[in-house]
Amino acid sequence: MAAKLVSFLLLITFHFLFRLQSSTGQNVVRAAYWSAGSEFPVSDIDSSLFTHLFCAFADLDPQTNQVTVSSANQPRFSTFTDTVQQKNPSIVTLLSIGGGNSRASDFASMASQATTRKSFIDSSINLARSYGFHGLDLDWEYPSTATEMTNLGLLLNEWRASVDDESASTGTSPLLLSAALFRSSDYYTLDYPIQAIENSLDWINVMAYDFYGPRWSNVTGPPAALYNPGTQVSGDQGIRSWIQAGIPSNKLVLGFPFYGYAWRLVDANNHGFFAPTSGPAISQDGDLGYGQIKDFISQNSATEVYNSTVVSNYCYSGTTWIGFDDTQSITTKVSYAKDNGLLGYFAWHVGADDGWTLSQAASETWGS
Ligand SMILES: *[C@@H]1O[C@H](CO)[C@@H](O)[C@H](O)[C@H]1NC(C)=O
Ligand SMILES: *[C@@H]1O[C@H](CO)[C@@H](O)[C@H](O)[C@H]1NC(C)=O
Repeated sequence: MAAKLVSFLLLITFHFLFRLQSSTGQNVVRAAYWSAGSEFPVSDIDSSLFTHLFCAFADLDPQTNQVTVSSANQPRFSTFTDTVQQKNPSIVTLLSIGGGNSRASDFASMASQATTRKSFIDSSINLARSYGFHGLDLDWEYPSTATEMTNLGLLLNEWRASVDDESASTGTSPLLLSAALFRSSDYYTLDYPIQAIENSLDWINVMAYDFYGPRWSNVTGPPAALYNPGTQVSGDQGIRSWIQAGIPSNKLVLGFPFYGYAWRLVDANNHGFFAPTSGPAISQDGDLGYGQIKDFISQNSATEVYNSTVVSNYCYSGTTWIGFDDTQSITTKVSYAKDNGLLGYFAWHVGADDGWTLSQAASETWGS
């Protein structure tokens, strides 16, 4: 009896120490996603500017409900961690699953049953371990019914239990678990499963961007406003909603874009926020990486504006108008994250930066 009690207490202590180690290990997340679709070479990432990198995206196979990596991506994903460790041996890497181009209904279907959740969970852990990632990141965009939100909660709880079991049985520290979630604690009228998120995830990546874009807004707007007086659409509103819902600020990581959106103005002389537009400019959806935006500005001698009330940059030339985050916006957001006790920040995506300008500004603003 006493021996059993002692071993039980040891087990509890063991779990506690591991959890403590994993939580104190992540005292800051200064992160970026790398997008395989960008074709930016992994070996070119200046990983010394980050504490964490997300490798995006692994896929969910809707037939098997397992996490897979396409054969085209396998060479870069399986060597990702080794490659980025060359410039920063202490970099922490996470394999990100899903993303904006994956089918939300596949995730809903997988999360709807215990057996399919188990296929997803077991395969994700196997894949992360075999490729040498330190963690897993779920990008299900988005659960769209109350039942799907409940099932997300079940998935997260079971994922955490499996990750802890795997850690205890192999004697390795547990994989990190994070998720990229909507800007606010509710996806429109649906509340996220707060208790499961709080209990299961090491942190959440708050996607505080895509508020305005030419595919869904016929007026110009600050795509990733930190503040947006008179509206509910801002990074600050989103962060406050997560805290009010019960997620501690030190589990929140503020996301910002290394890209912007270009609109075609109806009237070249009406070039502020909320000016009428006739659709996207420059690219099909109007999305442009920061490097491309800087090229546009220099080639067209575009007028540049920083609005510090909203915390957003824009530029215009003729009838082309581009909303984006330049260094002022990025550094203000990093200071906001630090001053409000958030765990850190992340950018989507590293290959869109321009000579490390934004990555460096962010890293220096947070400091060491
Ligand atoms: C722009 O969108 C708003 C809201 O959907 C709509 O009321 C308005 O008529 C649209 N304006 C134009 C010029 O299409
Ligand atoms: C910043 O943008 C807001 C929202 O459109 C606007 O009310 C304000 O006048 C702008 N500030 C400056 C200095 O232009």
